[in-house]
Amino acid sequence: MAMEKAAWAIMVVVVLCAMAHVGEADEKELETASFVFGDSLVDSGNNNYLPTLSKADMRPNGIDFAASDGDPTGRFTNGRTIADIIGELLGQPDYAPPFLSPNTTGSAILNGVNYASGGAGILNGTGKIFVNRLGMDIQVDYFNITRQQLDDLLGKAKAKELLMKRSIFSITIGSNDFLNNYLLPVISATERARESPDAFIDSLITNLRSQLIRLYSLDARKVVVANVGPIGCIPYQKTINKVGEDECVGLPNQLALQYNARLRDLLAELNDNLPGAKFVLANVYDLVMDLLTNYQSHGFKQASHACCGNGGQYQGIIPCGPSSSMCDDRAAYVFWDPYHPSEASNVYLAKFIVDGDTNYVSPINLRQLMKL
Ligand SMILES: *[C@@H]1O[C@H](CO)[C@@H](O)[C@H](O)[C@H]1NC(C)=O
Ligand SMILES: *[C@@H]1O[C@H](CO)[C@@H](O)[C@H](O)[C@H]1NC(C)=O
Ligand SMILES: *[C@@H]1O[C@H](CO)[C@@H](O)[C@H](O)[C@H]1NC(C)=O
Repeated sequence: MAMEKAAWAIMVVVVLCAMAHVGEADEKELETASFVFGDSLVDSGNNNYLPTLSKADMRPNGIDFAASDGDPTGRFTNGRTIADIIGELLGQPDYAPPFLSPNTTGSAILNGVNYASGGAGILNGTGKIFVNRLGMDIQVDYFNITRQQLDDLLGKAKAKELLMKRSIFSITIGSNDFLNNYLLPVISATERARESPDAFIDSLITNLRSQLIRLYSLDARKVVVANVGPIGCIPYQKTINKVGEDECVGLPNQLALQYNARLRDLLAELNDNLPGAKFVLANVYDLVMDLLTNYQSHGFKQASHACCGNGGQYQGIIPCGPSSSMCDDRAAYVFWDPYHPSEASNVYLAKFIVDGDTNYVSPINLRQLMKL
């Protein structure tokens, strides 16, 4: 692994030196872009621009990765998201800026755009307890706007080349369809509570299928879709269900596993049916489970309590904000807040998704996907 990394670093240096000799326009041609879709796990600040209860633009969120003016960026963690780190590992020159930021115009979109929104789900109705969020349908609508802007900026042929050959599309969605829809105790907060798990998961897969096909019709070809992590192990679920340190809540994990099996089939189906496309599954569930089981051997000291949050046994009720207690050693906590991993966890997870084997990312990893 270390040798491989060193070899890769040397290769990058060689390529960069070679690039220094080509013209400005050609240099642009060699860059890559990432288009990021999803929920609060990868939101880079879209919710800052929405009237919503799902916000992270207050301290101490972003304490290890503030904007240039020192304010939190709106990321739901102490530092970079997993999408940020994956972009870095793939050598992307800049983070994909949030679609709703007024600065995300002109050449700012050439490194990609982030459409992710805290509280978002596959289903439109998911997350309505937060009043507002960009659901996955709307995120694809917004990408359609960017698609048009790229044609205008680059011309049709170059825009197509950027999207089909040099861009990675990542989709991190689904947790809220369970946590902030199906599993909510209040029936009025969810239209779906009376459905069987099978019927609910079926509607998730049907909607996600059409969302992914729409992305394909807009020239997405290299697509990575994350499965749903062990949501029964987050401090919020462990706190409200009062389970022990080493336990997780059964039902949420069971639902995640059931959905993940259907997602695996969906991606295989799309790989068979959509010519030229490669859909990659990021097995976040097993990765996070391995981290939670072996956290100590990966340099963590705490895998059940939130670093920043309040309430109950695991600080798992009240989201991270100015009045929260915060742990001293952020890098030693798997969870930043009641719902989200710390930057240290994101660094651990991203490495496996970029360079890992088929247990964690399949049929190929993101390093291989980028090179296709
Ligand atoms: C937009 O860019 C301007 C000029 O660089 C900067 O001062 C401002 O903070 C940016 N705004 C946001 C919301 O990023
Ligand atoms: C989701 O909401 C958007 C905007 O309100 C709407 O255009 C779209 O048709 C809805 N999708 C579904 C599946 O209901
Ligand atoms: C993208 O937008 C165009 C123009 O509004 C519309 O005709 C087209 O159907 C949209 N495509 C998708 C996949 O949403």
